[in-house]
Amino acid sequence: MPPPRLGCSDASNCTGGPARGPVLAGPLRCLVVELHVVDHPLVAHKLTMLRDATTPSPTFRALTDELVTLLAYEATRAVHCVPVRVDTPVAPADGTHLAEPTPLVVPILRAGLGMLEGMSRLLPTAEVGFLGLVRDEETLAATTYASRLPDDLSGRQCYVLDPMLATGGTLATAIHYLAERGAAEVTVVCLLAAPEGLARLEEETDGLSLPLTVVTASVDQRLNEHGYIVPGLGDAGDRLYGSAGS
Ligand code: URA
Repeated sequence: MPPPRLGCSDASNCTGGPARGPVLAGPLRCLVVELHVVDHPLVAHKLTMLRDATTPSPTFRALTDELVTLLAYEATRAVHCVPVRVDTPVAPADGTHLAEPTPLVVPILRAGLGMLEGMSRLLPTAEVGFLGLVRDEETLAATTYASRLPDDLSGRQCYVLDPMLATGGTLATAIHYLAERGAAEVTVVCLLAAPEGLARLEEETDGLSLPLTVVTASVDQRLNEHGYIVPGLGDAGDRLYGSAGS
């Protein structure tokens, strides 16, 4: 039997077993290539404030920014580096620089924009590309309506920002888009993930040879009939930016 594709850094959140905070309704066979549920009291605190329906938009934006920086610290654990030697005022020292080509950060419009500053804080030299995806209500397929990305992503580590990994359809499409352009690795950074979305991501990226990682603050219980994550935090885009146009 082939080994499972997914590794999981938080067994409690991947099995439906005892977990702090939201637990999974049923067993989640850790299906995504590599799942990291960041277990840290500051992450849990900020996430709880984001979940709170009384948290106003300006506070929600600030908390998202802070939480993404904490997630980014985990997400960049395997960022490509090269050894360098520098001279301190005292003596030569062996150290590390980020390798070329620099990573590419890709916020998914629109809610992913609320995560960009938090990610760029840790990776200020990363390039930023943009992807806008919309779902066809008849076919339910996600299609790209806006793209500002380099054509050639050969050798690039890509960090995709989308606050809610809900059905997984948008993210699966985004990952294929990056893979077709030669991306070397994709790491999805999301505030919350649903088990259904993780399973779909695995299914729809099964044929891709690139390493895929998901870093999140929590895997929640389930999706409801409207495609919202339960307990979740509501519509991330609306909570970040208000409901104009929706
Ligand atoms: N998108 C959101 O903004 N919230 C959800 O719960 C699911 C998808």
